[in-house]
Amino acid sequence: MKPQSRVFIFGLIVVGAAMLAIGILIGQFGIPDGSCSASSSPSTNTPSENETISVLMIEECQAENIEEHVRQLSSRPHLAGTPAEKENAEMLVSLWTEYGLDSVRLLPYDVLLAYPDPDNPNKVMITDNGVAVFTSALTEAVLRPEDNNTDVVPPFNAYSAQGEPEGPLVYVNYGTADDFDWLAKNRPDININGSIVIVKYGNNFRGQKVLHAQLAGAIGVIMYSDPNDYARDGSEAVYQNDWWLPDTGVQRGTVKVGSPGDPITPGYPAKPYMYRLNASDPSLPTIPVHPISYGDAQQLLSELGGDEVQNAWKGGLNITYRYGPGFTDPNRKVKMSIQTSREIRTIYNVIGVINGAVEPDRYVLLGNHRDAWVYGAVDPSSGTGILMETTRVYSQMLKIGWRPRRSVMFCSWGAEEYGLVGSTEFVEEYQKILGERAVAYINIDSAVVGNFTFGARATPLLQQAVWDAAKKVPDGETQERSAYDVWLERVPDPRTGTPFTAGIGSGSDYAPFMHRIGVPSTDLLYVYDFIRLGLSSYPVYHSVYETFYYVKNFLDRNFWRHLTVARVYLELSRDLADSVILPFGCADYAAKLQQAAQGLERNFGVKLTQNGVVLDDMKSALDNFTESAQNFEMEVSDIDLNDAYAVRRVNDQMMQLERAFIDPAGLPDRQWLRHVIFAPSSVDTYSGAEFPAVVDALYLIDDDPDQETRWNNVRKQLAILTFTIQSAASTLNDVTQL
Ligand SMILES: *[C@@H]1O[C@H](CO)[C@@H](O)[C@H](O)[C@H]1NC(C)=O
Ligand SMILES: *[C@@H]1O[C@H](CO)[C@@H](O)[C@H](O)[C@H]1NC(C)=O
Ligand SMILES: *[C@@H]1O[C@H](CO)[C@@H](O)[C@H](O)[C@H]1NC(C)=O
Ligand SMILES: *[C@@H]1O[C@H](CO)[C@@H](O)[C@H](O)[C@H]1NC(C)=O
Ligand SMILES: *[C@@H]1O[C@H](CO)[C@@H](O)[C@H](O)[C@H]1NC(C)=O
Ligand SMILES: *[C@@H]1O[C@H](CO)[C@@H](O)[C@H](O)[C@H]1NC(C)=O
Ligand SMILES: *[C@@H]1O[C@H](CO)[C@@H](O)[C@H](O)[C@H]1NC(C)=O
Repeated sequence: MKPQSRVFIFGLIVVGAAMLAIGILIGQFGIPDGSCSASSSPSTNTPSENETISVLMIEECQAENIEEHVRQLSSRPHLAGTPAEKENAEMLVSLWTEYGLDSVRLLPYDVLLAYPDPDNPNKVMITDNGVAVFTSALTEAVLRPEDNNTDVVPPFNAYSAQGEPEGPLVYVNYGTADDFDWLAKNRPDININGSIVIVKYGNNFRGQKVLHAQLAGAIGVIMYSDPNDYARDGSEAVYQNDWWLPDTGVQRGTVKVGSPGDPITPGYPAKPYMYRLNASDPSLPTIPVHPISYGDAQQLLSELGGDEVQNAWKGGLNITYRYGPGFTDPNRKVKMSIQTSREIRTIYNVIGVINGAVEPDRYVLLGNHRDAWVYGAVDPSSGTGILMETTRVYSQMLKIGWRPRRSVMFCSWGAEEYGLVGSTEFVEEYQKILGERAVAYINIDSAVVGNFTFGARATPLLQQAVWDAAKKVPDGETQERSAYDVWLERVPDPRTGTPFTAGIGSGSDYAPFMHRIGVPSTDLLYVYDFIRLGLSSYPVYHSVYETFYYVKNFLDRNFWRHLTVARVYLELSRDLADSVILPFGCADYAAKLQQAAQGLERNFGVKLTQNGVVLDDMKSALDNFTESAQNFEMEVSDIDLNDAYAVRRVNDQMMQLERAFIDPAGLPDRQWLRHVIFAPSSVDTYSGAEFPAVVDALYLIDDDPDQETRWNNVRKQLAILTFTIQSAASTLNDVTQL
């Protein structure tokens, strides 16, 4: 049965209206073609009218279309900076032009990327008196005919340094800050300085693993996906029989840390005239890094000497896990040969725009990246298929005469995989305009990574709008309940009684919008049961096995889950683009800040008190913020929707709120990041941290001999936080008061 014939629409009052709608709509709110301000009155769309559009959009969206796009996009590799990727960008330009968007632009940037040398493949070897006796696989095995393509880039870690280090091997678990710290404290006899480390993928961003290894003096890093994380059900239950990773699969990925974007034009757009740093940029790794399969890792780990590791560090290979250093055979060493080179290549963003009917200078942005490591059927083609279908649905609504109140921008980013490059260059180039005019940024990256439930990451400001959209959309499993109900049932947040909604980290293109310029952001996806499984990613992530076959057989046979994400994307963006009053939860922000403050007190309260640091001022600012937010929401609920100036004023105040948390000076030691409330954790870019500057100031503070400097810094960061919260409160107060 086709999903759309079983669709039922949540929250719909007059179902019949939808049936009649097309005919009525054309007559009722047809507006002059291409007009940006067809009406000076904000009440062009009455509540019942926009309800109708909401229903129509949800119904118009088709699983079959998304499936066909994902099939096409994943039929060949489309790595950033390659001809195939450029062709996809050009394909989108023609498609969106054909759809009749008001403008479609291809925006190129020349940026520093990285590629393996086809003539000199990267490898990890075991040497015996200098002679290689084992060499890691140069490519992943072809397990299905469609995995075979000469354009598949061999496994590599982008921005690795070049080199041929040789030395003793040391196993450091997941290579987190805590793992290196544990080893240094508990096993000072195991010397990392001058060694090559082998670490498991998962638990933190791979770039951080490299950074920690580098700081400890390692001369190379080898990463692999352990079966305990990526192949839990045994050697048979792997692709192509099951969704787990086979022993030949390898996760590719960037190891760049520091600010996202082009590494040699940090903070500024990579325009032809821009000044470029030398490619030996300090934020790039200085040591060679390479990923291997767990089949190959077994060879290295089974020969390691030294003591057996503590239980918590054991993995799922059928070997005894040891720390090293070095192999049991003293003549044997590990050697890496890495020839990946850094090159400037051209990447492309595609930006399509529908001009708003009433407020064309307010933009709602829908974004997704287009580049993939290999076939990328999940990452990001599941999202690209959805972006394409979303754009078609919008264009259908234009054809029947509807036009959103605000402008809608569809953004297809290039080179996300190298470190959010396309989106970051775009934000850097247009930061003045976006900083003033962007209402919200809605991201979709890997849109369906599991079959469990719809979910989202979001700024507190957008949580409620995401939940409201999910209430109107059928779930992706049976289509019998709302996406919201399944989400709430499967992943409840016991603190709030709402569906669990994570904060914004920096794992995808929302990061520059949120952390750099304070545009409220959210990221939508269908997830696996991450609480039960505890996986850092779906098993075949960034490997050659991330194929259409995988999506169809293990994630979403009928593409209903893709459909659910697409429909929430449509409904949420329509709500943000078309509601007279922006659907922002200012009081929700206050609640989140109170929660974060409680967390700070729980984790550090005693230590703060012992050192004579009080939180009274911060709490006062928080209470002021909470009161301001509540009063503001009351004021908004009374507003005369026909008073265009009043509507614009409160909307501007709401748009100001996320920006009020931006400190132009940036976070200490991480100036590119400017959001004082939320930032990626400084020890793991993938996860988010609340009150990041304060938390960083307190990190391992007891270990520092210079207590006075450290505690003065804590006081300083708390004061900045207090000031920022207080000034955010003032943006919501009576506009005639300071
Ligand atoms: C459109 O619908 C939203 C809810 O989806 C509502 O908040 C808004 O007020 C409506 N807009 C108009 C013009 O009535
Ligand atoms: C992959 O394709 C090449 C030709 O393009 C062929 O020679 C090779 O046998 C194929 N490998 C597999 C495993 O199918
Ligand atoms: C590693 O050892 C060298 C001397 O062999 C020393 O100069 C360097 O500081 C050490 N690095 C670290 C991170 O301990
Ligand atoms: C970059 O630095 C390297 C090493 O310091 C040097 O050899 C190279 O010429 C520099 N390149 C440019 C473009 O300045
Ligand atoms: C694990 O390895 C041992 C020794 O090599 C072997 O006897 C045993 O059969 C292996 N177990 C499994 C489950 O493969
Ligand atoms: C979800 O995916 C897992 C892993 O492939 C599978 O075991 C499970 O049966 C699937 N559940 C549904 C409802 O499809
Ligand atoms: C909170 O508001 C009160 C009343 O306006 C004010 O006295 C106090 O200084 C404010 N707190 C902070 C931290 O600014």
